[in-house]
Amino acid sequence: MTATLQDALRRPMRDLRISVTDRCNFRCAYCMPFDEYKWIERAEVLTFEEIERVARIGIDLGVEKIRLTGGEPLVRRDLERLIARLSRLQGLKDLTLTTNGALLEEQAYALAEAGLRRINVSLDTLNPNRFHEITKRGRLEDVLGGIAAAHRAGMGPIKVNAVVIRGFNDDELLDMVRYGREHRIEIRFIEYMDVGNVNDWKVSKTVPKSEILSRIGAVYPLREVGRDQGSAPAIDYAYEDGAGEIGIIGSVTEPFCSSCVRARLTADGRFITCLFAETGFDLKGLIRGGAPDTKIADTLRGVWVGRTDRYSDLRWEEIRSGTYRPERHRKIEMITLGG
Ligand code: GTP
Ligand code: 5AD
Ligand code: SF4
Ligand code: SF4
Repeated sequence: MTATLQDALRRPMRDLRISVTDRCNFRCAYCMPFDEYKWIERAEVLTFEEIERVARIGIDLGVEKIRLTGGEPLVRRDLERLIARLSRLQGLKDLTLTTNGALLEEQAYALAEAGLRRINVSLDTLNPNRFHEITKRGRLEDVLGGIAAAHRAGMGPIKVNAVVIRGFNDDELLDMVRYGREHRIEIRFIEYMDVGNVNDWKVSKTVPKSEILSRIGAVYPLREVGRDQGSAPAIDYAYEDGAGEIGIIGSVTEPFCSSCVRARLTADGRFITCLFAETGFDLKGLIRGGAPDTKIADTLRGVWVGRTDRYSDLRWEEIRSGTYRPERHRKIEMITLGG
């Protein structure tokens, strides 16, 4: 165990976000706006054995939390088998996943049984027509049914991620809040970001965290709780009346790079040190080339030690000085990074 592994900005590697597939059953306009897309070839996708191996080596280097992502993780066949493998790993303190919820109703019990204790579900609107408009292929009732099934399967906390886009769904803040209070779900409001290359982001579409907070706080008074582990993207707030919590993720206007402990692994085995990275390290090449664990560990250590990423910090500086040009960056698409 190398607990002292730190990057160039003295940040440890504590979280590993593992994308298990780049495929998705939705086509959210802000993430997957392509008619044609070059999906990762099946043979290039890491097997469960390979993922488990990287996870185990990551844990030896200090990783404590693993989140499975996609695309949509629940479209990966037999995902509960991967959950079962990972949940047995010594030293892992938190294992969870982020899903769009469409397949959750049918899988919740198997996932919970395999060792999944908690889950985050993406849900940007409670209006069925609008839901279809955003996701193109999704049905709101399936996602709500999935959340209810996760409850019944004993998962908790269940968090709901709502990306807030000005002029599109920012009129629903209080509806979402009421839904969360009623069902005891932590709603997390996420500032809309310019992920990928073609999501048509403009800063005017981002509703700042401060505005989200004041609009909700004016109706339901809130008290700041803080960031989970000091490093989570969300700052949590508790309702003064005891009806639970919300979280707000201010990636654009209140960036949190200085405490970013997150590494990412793509479905085709690239090791990525920032959500906004342009390239990653091809770990799969090493794995399939027969490298021993020590070589893989040394490589991860080497990449992490050299890490200087602070994209959101720099973006905010440039936005404020009027010099930010998203089109100048060739980012990896969100659908391959899983957020
Ligand atoms: P918890 O462990 O439950 O706190 O989840 P999480 O917030 O870490 O993960 P989730 O997948 O639910 O992501 C919520 C939002 O935060 C998504 O919009 C992600 O894209 C965003 N996010 C997660 N990690 C990072 C990060 O390192 N940088 C930025 N800029 N955004 C992130
Ligand atoms: N801005 C903010 N969050 C986003 N997500 C997807 N695209 C964006 C974006 N442009 C969120 C999804 C999911 C999480 C992994 O990332 O809603 O909950
Ligand atoms: Fe939508 Fe998530 Fe699928 Fe992207 S990966 S299209 S945000 S459901
Ligand atoms: Fe971490 Fe990059 Fe997100 Fe900053 S922008 S918090 S460095 S993933």
